[in-house]
Amino acid sequence: MSAKLGVLASGAGSNLQALLDDGLPVVAVASDVPGARALERARERGIPTAAFPAVSPHDRTARDAALARFFLGHGVTHVVCAGYMQILRPSFLDRFPGRVLNVHPALLPAFPGARAVEDALAAGVATTGATVHVVDEGVDTGPVLRQAEVPVHPGDTPETLRARIRDVEHRLLPAAVREVIAV
Ligand code: GRF
Repeated sequence: MSAKLGVLASGAGSNLQALLDDGLPVVAVASDVPGARALERARERGIPTAAFPAVSPHDRTARDAALARFFLGHGVTHVVCAGYMQILRPSFLDRFPGRVLNVHPALLPAFPGARAVEDALAAGVATTGATVHVVDEGVDTGPVLRQAEVPVHPGDTPETLRARIRDVEHRLLPAAVREVIAV
């Protein structure tokens, strides 16, 4: 069975772009943000997209089941969270066991969560980085596949540090995905 990727992205989608530019087999892209630039990037390549907006907590199981059906309907075998800012429920994860990856802007287990870059700056670390890991039901807790270090420079702001980390992610993520799907 040849691997097919579904990508989840909430924002700009520069990591999605890195996967596309690397020639990886992205067959469907979804977001919780209907206007996300990531969806536009996919449409520019003729890749099917869908938006599954955030819903109240008790509806998340149904929302994630619908998301899984969308990907399965396009033959997705592996999922990449590329800046996806929602926690995936078992109704999604159980359909892709061990086959959902995430890219995170810190050296996990340091600085999990949505404010990883700000937290690293506040902690005053000299080095942070990027991590690609397998997604489980926790927040940035699954097994680590690959990591790369990124130096923190004096005078860095969240924006300057985030940009330096993203450049590293754009190499790290396609390489890790390529290894997992063995193409
Ligand atoms: C990345 O830095 C990723 O680590 C974080 O969100 C950012 C997404 O950037 N979770 P983009 O949308 O891929 O440009």
